[in-house]
Amino acid sequence: MTNSDTEQHRRERELTERVTASFDGCDNPRLRQLMQSLVQHLHAFIREVRLTEQEWQSAIDFLTAVGHITDDRRQEFILLSDVLGASMQTVTVNNEAHGSATEATVFGPFFVDDAPEVPIGGDIAGGAAGEPCWVEGTVTDTDGTPIPGARIEVWEADDDGYYDVQYDDDRVAGRAHLYADADGRYAFWGLRPTPYPIPHDGPVGKMLDAVGRSPMRASHLHFMVSAEGHRTLVTHIFVRGDELLDADTVFGVRDSLIKDFVPQPAGTRTPDGRDLATSPWSRVHFDIRLAPSAAADGDGERDRDDMIDAI
Ligand code: BEZ
Ligand code: FE
Repeated sequence: MTNSDTEQHRRERELTERVTASFDGCDNPRLRQLMQSLVQHLHAFIREVRLTEQEWQSAIDFLTAVGHITDDRRQEFILLSDVLGASMQTVTVNNEAHGSATEATVFGPFFVDDAPEVPIGGDIAGGAAGEPCWVEGTVTDTDGTPIPGARIEVWEADDDGYYDVQYDDDRVAGRAHLYADADGRYAFWGLRPTPYPIPHDGPVGKMLDAVGRSPMRASHLHFMVSAEGHRTLVTHIFVRGDELLDADTVFGVRDSLIKDFVPQPAGTRTPDGRDLATSPWSRVHFDIRLAPSAAADGDGERDRDDMIDAI
């Protein structure tokens, strides 16, 4: 290392230390930790890649474009977090592995609070196009004890890859909630999930294009399951055999969430006598195991509301 290398290194390190120290007086210890760690990682990145001023300006322009396209209906910053794996890493950190508890994955932007209630065995399609799919299983704790009355919220895209909220009309389709029965059992008719792209007509889509990445998500069906005294679970199930399982653009796939969606030829007897004489259908089994809530304060409902407030 030459003398001027040493002097350069000293100047860079001194700046990082000075900026870090500027937060020393912050009264809130958590905020202080977040800001100081952020500065250290950000400076380390800039120094490691030897960021050029032109690259720094491109980054500012990119973030400005992300802000400009964001409004009440379109949240480009969340999409950016999703495709960088930051959403999934935050989910992973905040849903610590707990015995056999079902794994969590990303929420996504298409949840709607208060979707219609359906009885056990009801149909959530609401007119959305797609192949009927019988979904059934149990909700239990991690010891296998049933959780009667667990609230199960489900939502999914139609056969064209769109959620109801992506249409300009006020349709409510491909979403519902239901409650587990006295034995923790649930069942409903949904649609066999198909792959679809995340919204990619904005700066995040342009970035994916520039780096040769696809905007596609692996086929999935969303669940949020809540019950008193248990950690609220936000997850999906994925279709075994889907070729996008290894390429999900938001990194949401977990092996344990890949399920067999077993195809049934038209005319196969349905579990509830529904007449599907001329339509093929599928069935899938998904047992859900909830971890105890960290606070164990018996207030599962508030836990769920906190999840919704966070999106
Ligand atoms: C979704 O699964 O609905 C989703 C998740 C992340 C980004 C966009 C969509
Ligand atoms: Fe989705």
